[in-house]
Amino acid sequence: MDKGSPKAIHLKDYAAPAWRIDTVDLHFDLRDGATTVTSRLGLRRNPARPTQGPQPLVLDGQDLALLSVTLGNRTLTAGTDYTVDAETLTLPGLDGTEASLEIVTRITPETNTALEGLYKSSGNYCTQCEAEGFRKITYFQDRPDVMAKYTVTVEAERARYPVLLSNGNLVDQGESPDGRHWTRWQDPWPKPCYLFALVAGDLRHIEDRFRTCSGRDVTLRIYVEPGNEDKCAHAMDSLKKSMKWDEEAYGREYDLDVFNIVAVGDFNMGAMENKSLNIFNTKYILARPDTATDTDFLGIESVVAHEYFHNWTGNRVTCRDWFQLSLKEGLTVFRDQQFSADMNSAPVKRIQDVQRLRQVQFTEDAGPTAHPVRPESYIEINNFYTPTVYEKGAEVLRMYRTLLGAAGYRKGIDLYFQRHDGQAVTTDDFLAAMRDANPDVAVDWEQFRLWYAQAGTPVIDADGQYDAAARTYTLTLHQTIPATPGQPVKQPMLMPVALGLVGTDGRDLPLRLQGEAAAGEGSRVLVLNQARQSVTFVDVPTAPVPSLFRGFSAPIRLRFPYSDAQLTFLMAHDSDAFNRWEAGQTLAVKILLDMVADRAAGRPMTVPPAFLEAVGATLARAHDDRSFASLALTLPSETYLGQQMDVIDVDGIHAAREQLRQAIGSAHADTLRAVYDACREHGPFSITPDAIGRRALKNTALAYLMATGGADAQALCLQQYRTAAGMTDVIIALMLIADSDMAERQSCLDAFAERWQGEALVMDKWFMIQAMAGHPETVKRVTALLSHPGFSIRNPNKVYALVGGFTGNPVCFHAADGSGYAFLADRVIELNALNPQVASRMVKAFARWRNYDGERQAAAKVALERIAHTPDLSRDVYEIVARSLEG
Ligand code: TRP
Ligand code: ZN
Repeated sequence: MDKGSPKAIHLKDYAAPAWRIDTVDLHFDLRDGATTVTSRLGLRRNPARPTQGPQPLVLDGQDLALLSVTLGNRTLTAGTDYTVDAETLTLPGLDGTEASLEIVTRITPETNTALEGLYKSSGNYCTQCEAEGFRKITYFQDRPDVMAKYTVTVEAERARYPVLLSNGNLVDQGESPDGRHWTRWQDPWPKPCYLFALVAGDLRHIEDRFRTCSGRDVTLRIYVEPGNEDKCAHAMDSLKKSMKWDEEAYGREYDLDVFNIVAVGDFNMGAMENKSLNIFNTKYILARPDTATDTDFLGIESVVAHEYFHNWTGNRVTCRDWFQLSLKEGLTVFRDQQFSADMNSAPVKRIQDVQRLRQVQFTEDAGPTAHPVRPESYIEINNFYTPTVYEKGAEVLRMYRTLLGAAGYRKGIDLYFQRHDGQAVTTDDFLAAMRDANPDVAVDWEQFRLWYAQAGTPVIDADGQYDAAARTYTLTLHQTIPATPGQPVKQPMLMPVALGLVGTDGRDLPLRLQGEAAAGEGSRVLVLNQARQSVTFVDVPTAPVPSLFRGFSAPIRLRFPYSDAQLTFLMAHDSDAFNRWEAGQTLAVKILLDMVADRAAGRPMTVPPAFLEAVGATLARAHDDRSFASLALTLPSETYLGQQMDVIDVDGIHAAREQLRQAIGSAHADTLRAVYDACREHGPFSITPDAIGRRALKNTALAYLMATGGADAQALCLQQYRTAAGMTDVIIALMLIADSDMAERQSCLDAFAERWQGEALVMDKWFMIQAMAGHPETVKRVTALLSHPGFSIRNPNKVYALVGGFTGNPVCFHAADGSGYAFLADRVIELNALNPQVASRMVKAFARWRNYDGERQAAAKVALERIAHTPDLSRDVYEIVARSLEG
């Protein structure tokens, strides 16, 4: 690992390019074993960077066979006119203000297992260029601040590749000799090369239309492999909803006559926003009620929206450099969150988003790979498509909106587009637009900017004092931001604190701060900007219970000395749905951590009866909002509980959570059964929020009944598994069966595989269920499944299901004997040679190894060092492993 460690790239070293590329004319000659790419570049000196005399032109390129370089009409000679190394092609002194350069390269998509650049998936050609994949197609200035207009000709054998697509409009097509044909595409919008896309294959499509607000008729198409046409309707529906929503909520209209989506089975991420030719992982397109769960349907809706929204936030306005990634990702995630909240239930969506933030981003922020929303340096940019850049980035956008209000936020957004349409910009430019559009808002924007610069999850210690005689309530907030790698000392951040004071009758008290003339609303937003800050509310008739950070108004960890009774009170009465849920979680965390401590001290674990009563009260209200109730009845995850401990007691957490689940199931068996029955569907299957809520609550009830291990519950679960119409009910039942020791366990798993062996996405669920089963044999079973005919280490979805699923199974992955760690190290080493991006995603599961006990630490360290000493370690894996072992 020490020999020539890869170098880091720094934000402070950014320099504008000396040459710009205005036009790109690409020709792809697709042939088995050797594809030829001819690229004609229209170059111009960058007026934004005045330089004198000849300037070197440095083009990026990787794994390319260079066939020729022609400048104007002169064929250049290697060594004298240009030099080539493993990563660049350099023309040392390029003269004049304009130049035209033709480069011919040869590539082999068939052997591209990294799924970056041009590659093949089930026999079809497709591309993935973000972040730096275009350099694996041709030599180019592979950086987002070089924006060009593209013309692309794709030529291939007609029989095997009847569909030939690229960005923009189809402008010409024709036949070639030897049964070949070609199409030509022109994209009128200048774009960075990471948005380039090409697809060639035997695909079928469904088609629809959308008329934009100004009357443009857009043809919408979704391309899939033959046989999947009947699984595209939901994605198409989601696309139309997204287009409409972006017009209404953000005033953004689509800007071309076609919008194409192609779904491919081999894809490293969820989907990609290539201009007018989005390429998707099949997971986020294909859905039919019998093959996809409610979670899948909702995931499709949000990812289709996310990629569509990128057309403005990412494509029309793009990033100056990759340090600005959250400029497009944080903003676009926030936009897709808003969209899904509008399409479904806003509080439920908010809770799910916060669950995800806590599960993945808080974990990242507390470990060796913690980084700011706008990182300062990276070794491999692919490693920075992280929960911090995406989800914490989205929280930053939400805070702008909370601080400015909906109208002020929209003014800022409008100004941002007005100023920067067609440009490659920075998060500072975005902040400036928000600030300048709202001159009357007194926010210290320099301080707010720290959200981009400082890593780590702020901890807010809060306390309140009620003075009965003075009728005042004083709230004190104290913020600390933990040290993170490279950032030992932090400055206080500025954040919106949405809050209310709940009176004894359960209603919000009108809020009046000392010095204010009149009382305001019962919920309001204060600004925290000091390390320690106090506010006093006056005219407070009785001791209130504070409801803080309503709607999770800032991405922080709150510590307030609530009593169990106060939390139970908030669970029942808080007018803010998020905090009703949060109170229940906080109470459950307290109880579970007490149980863990009891177990560690050799005492029996006990469940306080008051907690079971509170659960009973939630159950009694469950039908008011079933999706919400299902979330309110779900205990905090083992990961979230682990975050509350200095040394994570994996087995203790699991044992406590299981015992509490069992106690809830036993205490409320009759009610749970009644809830289950009441939620059973009548009428045809649908995916309306109401129907989704019924299934969620029903399955939550079933899970508690199954936790008791009772024969009735097992019979009910088996019946659901055998008779359910939709995949949601089937998969939950199968998951519960797989987690049990029922006699039917293996036969159910076998029958499922038999039934669904032809559906790759359904088989992913089958792999994942087994990887996540809390069974003593899991690591053996998962190892055996690596040789299952339906598994392939080359397919990212399969790896995420089986290997990723296993790392999400704390008890088995963190087994004290190190067997889980050894298994993961073997997979990472195998993947490193095939697909570094996927390898790197998997190796991140080791990141918090120092938070476990000595025995586990020793085993994890052995595994990490074994990976570190692997020959030809990719930059991707190297960066994560090196950080994990540091310090
Ligand atoms: N920009 C994509 C998104 O919508 C992310 C993405 C897709 C990606 N494929 C990728 C990032 C490959 C890195 C590598 O969020
Ligand atoms: Zn995105």
